This record gives sequence, structure tokens and C-alpha cells, in this order.
Amino acid sequence: MSLIAKVTSSGPQKPLGDVLRVPLGIDVWEVKPDHLILRGTEAQLDRLSRMGYLVEQLEDVARHLSTFAAEAAEQYHSAASLEEELRQLAEAKPDITQLIEMGRSIEGRPIFALRIGDRRGGVPKILFMGCHHAREWIAVEVPFLLAKELVERADEAPIAGWLTSGEVWVAPMVNPDGHEYSRAQERLWRKNRRRNDDGSFGVDPNRNYGYMWGILDVPTSSQVPSDETYVGPRAFSEPETQAVRDLVGCERFAGVITYHSYSQLILYPWGYTDKPIPDVQHREQMAGMAQEMQTLIQGVHGKIYVPQQSSALYPTAGDTTDWTYGTYGIPSFTVELRPRTFQEGGFILPPDHILPTWEENRPAAFRFVEQLLAVSVA
Ligand code: ARG
Ligand code: ZN
Repeated sequence: MSLIAKVTSSGPQKPLGDVLRVPLGIDVWEVKPDHLILRGTEAQLDRLSRMGYLVEQLEDVARHLSTFAAEAAEQYHSAASLEEELRQLAEAKPDITQLIEMGRSIEGRPIFALRIGDRRGGVPKILFMGCHHAREWIAVEVPFLLAKELVERADEAPIAGWLTSGEVWVAPMVNPDGHEYSRAQERLWRKNRRRNDDGSFGVDPNRNYGYMWGILDVPTSSQVPSDETYVGPRAFSEPETQAVRDLVGCERFAGVITYHSYSQLILYPWGYTDKPIPDVQHREQMAGMAQEMQTLIQGVHGKIYVPQQSSALYPTAGDTTDWTYGTYGIPSFTVELRPRTFQEGGFILPPDHILPTWEENRPAAFRFVEQLLAVSVA
């Protein structure tokens, strides 16, 4: 049985950051300056207390699920209902859309991207993705609602202008197998559904990209197949990340945003090191954009999304944005959506938050498109 616990430091000789260096196989949910929220077995949590950390059991997973299980699955997309609605969008406006199968998952589910723009080959092209992680259901809804709005309001300013010159690509569910598993079997499933050599299941798609892949071995980027952040046997070993690799390799995107949850953060590279990216101009551009997104998001419903370098959350090797920036120089962000804390539901976001989460992210996504458009025209 797994438990959810809050871990705090017992004093200056036990820095909290050290917990993230012990190879314990724990599932790290939340990292705040004064505490961590973890999911682990009783044995794993016992080990942490014997190491001298303060471990407070919050609740067991079953209880957490029943508290927030009022979350009606029907209000979130399944792989099938997403496909259906993407098809409807494409059919409603065939002149400006194209539904593209980027690839197929391990279990053979199609991975879709909707291309939106007046013509193929417009510049710039911007890519929005969602749901690398199965349990992060809101990370499907935000990019889907973006696609829907762009299609439905394609004739209105400012969208009409963007679509004349550029293209927006939206892939709301990169990990459909994991997502289905999270809906049908295990709500807190994170990875894809690869059967690993040791008999365990799942590679973390957001550790499987080919920039600095596998250089770390820590709980948040692990070499152990049964761990939640297993990097996989080699870079791009998974069909889900291959699909993204092939799309990004072809399309020369000018910007990438990938949605995750939870914590309300706006993250920019690097994730693999605490060092800032060496190119000062890029660094200032991305930090500036992240700041601006924060302001825009806060302006809608007052929610604060904190901008920071990815590694300041925790270190990861082989995540999406390290690869899109590191390999192609694309300005790239990971947006961690609502809620901010475990107490507000963590990965299980009540469905009445779907619309406000989209509403607050809309101006940030729009601004991102606008800025990249201005750069490409200049
Ligand atoms: N929560 C995401 C994940 O675990 C974010 C990763 C962003 N990179 C990082 N170094 N924190 O995949
Ligand atoms: Zn995630």
C-alpha cells in the first residue's frame, strides 16, 4: 500500500535537497523550499525517518483518491473522445486544419497533432503538447481547448492574422496508453506502458529525449526500470518520444510549450544542470517570456505560476524542453498547471477547475504565439 507523506528537514545538517539524491524509488510529487510531498511505501518512508528526516504521513493513497474521486472522469477526455473531438474540429474547418497522426503508442494508439494555419509551411510554427504524464489530466484539456479556440475563432483578430502567416500545432495527448491506464486502472499512473526487461512497466516519456539523456541517476531521473522516472534503455527508445522527435525534426518549430501538472510553475531549460544556459540572449529571452507569462496568468484569476529554471524544481536528464532547446535552439517551456499544492488535490484536479485553468493560460499561450510571430517577421 502506498502512502503520501510530507517530509521536512530536522535541522541544518539534514538538508531537504539530499532526499532527492537518495536512490529510494520514491515518487516525488511536490518540491517546496520547506517541504517535499512524496508517495512511497511504508518501508521507503521508514528509511527516510531513520535517516533523520521528519516524515509526516498525510494519508494513504486510497483515502486521497476517495477524497478527490468526485472528479468525474467524463469531464476529462479519454483517448477516444479526444480523437473524436479533434476530428470534429478538423472537419469543421478543413481549409485551415489537418489532423496528423504523429506516430503510435506502444499499445498501438494513434498520437495526434492538429495543425492549424491557412497553408502548409507557414512561418513561424509553434508547437503545444500535453500529457506526457498519464495522471496529469488537465494537461490534455488546456492544449485541447487552445486548439478548439484557434479553430472556432480562426476568422477573428488576432487569430486570423496569426494563421495567415504561421501555423500552430497542438498535440494534446502524447502518452495515450498511460492516460487510458490512469483512467481505467490506476489513477496515479505516470509513465507509458512499456514492459521493461525486469517485468516492471513503464518508461517516463519526459526522461527519454535525446539531449543529455541518462546522465543522471537520482529519484527524479532514474536508471531503475520500476521507478516512476525511469529514463528507458536508451534515448528515444519509446514510440511516444520518437513521434515527437520525428515531428520536431521535420517542422522547425519556433517555439514549444509542453503542459504538465501540478505546482503552477513556468519552467525553462536547463533541467539537467543548475548552470544557466550559456547563451545570454536566449537566457534573457526565455526568462523574460516566462515572467511575462506569469503576469498574464495572474491577471486572469489571480493564480501565481512561478517562473524558474527547470532544475530549480529538481534535476532531470532527457526532458522535452532540454532536447528542443539543446538540440534545436527552440525557446521552450514546461508549464505546470493547477493546482499549486497537494492539499488542493495534486494530480486530481476537480473538474470545475478545467475552464478557469484554460482561461488563465490562454493569454500566456497567445502572447507566446504573438512574440514568436513578431520575431519571425522582423
Ligand atoms: N514535472 C515534470 C517532470 O517531472 C517537469 C520536468 C521539468 N524539468 C525539470 N528538471 N524539473 O517531468
Ligand atoms: Zn508531468
